[in-house]
Amino acid sequence: MTDQARASAATLTGAIEGKPTSASRTTLSHIMTHNDTNLLGTVHGGVIMKLVDDAAGAVAGRHSGGPAVTASMDEMAFLEPVRVGDLVHVKAQVNWTGRTSMEVGVRVLAERWNESTPAQQVGSAYLVFAAVDADGSPREVPPVEPETERDRRRYQEAQIRRTHRLARRRAIRELREKRAADGIED
Ligand SMILES: CC(C)(COP(=O)(O)OP(=O)(O)OC[C@H]1O[C@@H](n2cnc3c(N)ncnc32)[C@H](O)[C@@H]1OP(=O)(O)O)[C@@H](O)C(=O)NCCC(=O)NCCS
Repeated sequence: MTDQARASAATLTGAIEGKPTSASRTTLSHIMTHNDTNLLGTVHGGVIMKLVDDAAGAVAGRHSGGPAVTASMDEMAFLEPVRVGDLVHVKAQVNWTGRTSMEVGVRVLAERWNESTPAQQVGSAYLVFAAVDADGSPREVPPVEPETERDRRRYQEAQIRRTHRLARRRAIRELREKRAADGIED
């Protein structure tokens, strides 16, 4: 289906028109300085997490065409230490969309300032963003349209994570309700 045909179909059905993954994919690059280090002299994990949230937020805003807030961040993995002088690239894309939320996948790569080697993956994370209106209430997002086999794999894996997140949340809520009903206080 052409872009124009898709737009017409979406207008006729009242559905929000889908957006391809590539329309919002983003890379944020940053050189690490002494201000970014922990007591060991390597880069603080929180500095990387801030860059991850920034890049993912930019992607969520671009995909949803407006403000989006971080609802959760999970599976943040730090694979290798990042050092002062490293050029860090944070690559983010929408993996999956629900009605008002989006999962954004992020890969963190580092180019060593003193080595002419390819950028090395140093971290990864998955974040859920909710698109919100001016009052902070969730609003609908365009469905993401995966374009490549890798996009499609990421979409399917995001659905598995979504199922697990919801199941975990429900199980914990039920446990707390049961403990409260049994009169158990923390
Ligand atoms: C995220 C937020 C908008 C959700 O609002 P809510 O009233 O709970 O609304 P809903 O339950 O309808 O959730 C909206 C969407 O977010 C998803 N969501 C909400 N909390 C989630 C969580 N912890 N993990 C994963 N997804 C979550 C819901 O599944 C839903 O997605 P869907 O419409 O695609 O099915 C609200 O909790 C909020 O504003 N949180 C603060 C966000 C913020 O300030 N972030 C920055 C931290 S400083």
